[in-house]
Amino acid sequence: MGRPGLALIESELPKLRSKFQIDFCLVQSENVSEGRGITPEDFTRLRHAGVDFCTGGNWSLWQKSIMPLLSDPDIPIIRPANYPGTTPGLGYKYTITPFGKVLVISLLGQTVGRDSQLKLDNPLKTVDRILEAEKGVAKAATIVNFHGDFSSEKVVIGQYLDGKVSAVIGDHWHVPTADARVLIRGTAHITDVGMVGTLNSSLGVKTDLIIARWRDDVVVSNELEQAKPWQLNAFWFQVDPRHGNAVSARSINLVYN
Ligand SMILES: [Fe+2]
Repeated sequence: MGRPGLALIESELPKLRSKFQIDFCLVQSENVSEGRGITPEDFTRLRHAGVDFCTGGNWSLWQKSIMPLLSDPDIPIIRPANYPGTTPGLGYKYTITPFGKVLVISLLGQTVGRDSQLKLDNPLKTVDRILEAEKGVAKAATIVNFHGDFSSEKVVIGQYLDGKVSAVIGDHWHVPTADARVLIRGTAHITDVGMVGTLNSSLGVKTDLIIARWRDDVVVSNELEQAKPWQLNAFWFQVDPRHGNAVSARSINLVYN
């Protein structure tokens, strides 16, 4: 979320990759550039910091300069796959790892923030179509990022895809849930992974502004909090690349002063 999130990834991810023996690192990138989408420059900074793949959400299409990257199958950044058919960009891509191909899919929940009026394709039917179309491709892992508001959707899609994909990772709340686990058929799941950004804020935005708007109907624009402490929330899971099932999962929630 914004500059604190990007700065924290740049300073801490190389250490975390080594400490937790991370082979493959995904980030949700829809709020990187001042909270609104991601620019190609910030995408490059994340890649240099050790990020392997960027998923998307309801702000993915905000920065027009990112569109060519979203449309290129060889560049590891996607937007939600269940946007209407004419939407630019790709909603799933493969990336090559030392263990084999990894398929990453982004999905948007049915009612999410600024896209709540948008007619989206059903996320369950969309992911079914993708998995059916790609079933002939040998994969080390398949990872689904579900960007949604309803905890019910975020829980249920994990169970719907249990045993069909390696991991289903919920996000968009910017607040982590305490339910990281491997589901009964071998899919790693968390309802919401949280965020990387400021700790004392309203999801990354200055709290005073949100209270003035909420309590006194003051018309204000969002302004991102920059002050420390900062927080880094993550979901860590292990996949056996022989069959693509997850074997362990846990949250990582760190605070930096
Ligand atoms: Fe979002």
